[in-house]
Amino acid sequence: MLVTDLDTPCAVVDLDVMEANLRRCQSYLDGAGIALRPHIKTHKIPEFAHLQLRLGARGINCQKLGEAEVMVEAGITDILLTYNIVGQVKLDRLVALAHRADMKVVADSPEVVDGLSDAMHRAGLILPVLVECETGAQRCGVVGADAVAALAQRIARSPGLHFLGLMTYPRFNTVAETAARLTEARDACHRAGLDVEVISNGGTPDLYRAHEAGIATEHRPGTYIYSDRSLVETKAYGGYDDCALRVHATVVSRPAQDRCVIDAGSKSLSSDLLGLTGHGRIVEHPEWQIAALSEEHGHVHVPPGAATPRIGERVSIIPNHVCVVSNLHGRIHAARGGRMEIYHDVAARGKMQ
Ligand SMILES: Cc1ncc(COP(=O)(O)O)c(C=O)c1O
Repeated sequence: MLVTDLDTPCAVVDLDVMEANLRRCQSYLDGAGIALRPHIKTHKIPEFAHLQLRLGARGINCQKLGEAEVMVEAGITDILLTYNIVGQVKLDRLVALAHRADMKVVADSPEVVDGLSDAMHRAGLILPVLVECETGAQRCGVVGADAVAALAQRIARSPGLHFLGLMTYPRFNTVAETAARLTEARDACHRAGLDVEVISNGGTPDLYRAHEAGIATEHRPGTYIYSDRSLVETKAYGGYDDCALRVHATVVSRPAQDRCVIDAGSKSLSSDLLGLTGHGRIVEHPEWQIAALSEEHGHVHVPPGAATPRIGERVSIIPNHVCVVSNLHGRIHAARGGRMEIYHDVAARGKMQ
């Protein structure tokens, strides 16, 4: 079966491109002496997580307990959960996971540490915990080296917990600043008498500058597996040839000379613009612009002089933000050279809790 025989809209991954992304990253990090711990939120597919492990990844990174539950069910045992676990319902689920797999989590406050300690101690388990450090992204993370060391000490003396190290999700284009902040935090922990076994850095932007930082023991890229328009347009990672996932769509209407409508809307492409103009790149007609989205309609502007859309014509779109697109599609079709090879259910789709 050819990819062009698939009904639209549908998400199709080119396995040759995807595998090249995975191999390039693995061999680069191997060469830099940094372990690879891919974030699976980009694909949410156990088969792809297993492939990443077979190619040499140390373990995986999940954002949500629900993702980790799917991956543990699929036989994956080394998981770092990079999210503060808050509330008894989630703590109970974490305990259940920690009975089955080698779980590690992060924390950035005494409240989170105390919740983890209480749950793990009562369960008779020891959970490795990393302190999440703020290094410029202004999301979660402890601010300042002394505060990092203080939280690390709290973890080290909490029953049921083991202080494993430091974790950060850096801002793009801040390799030196991030390294400096992690170094200060690590040195403060050393002064407090603590071992820092793991320093976990992350992200696809700046992935190929990981060797410059010289401090992280592991790196957690997620989007590198598929890549997307945002990474290409911001020059954060690769080119359009490295984009493995496309949403295939069909022109279903051409109400006027200067516009047509495709059958992929916000439920196929997501509404994320990430600062870009247009809702994705139409590979066959880059000059056409997906100017707006309804749920099931993509409103395409066709500039003067561009090719005229034909009703029934198929196009393929490189989405702006591929991680969200994965979460929208129940199934990912995998192909090589335009021929369908296999499809995978997106097993961790919708696992936001
Ligand atoms: C904590 C954490 N680590 C790693 C990643 C992977 O980053 P990227 O998608 O840029 O590869 C993310 C992405 O959101 C993240 O939040």
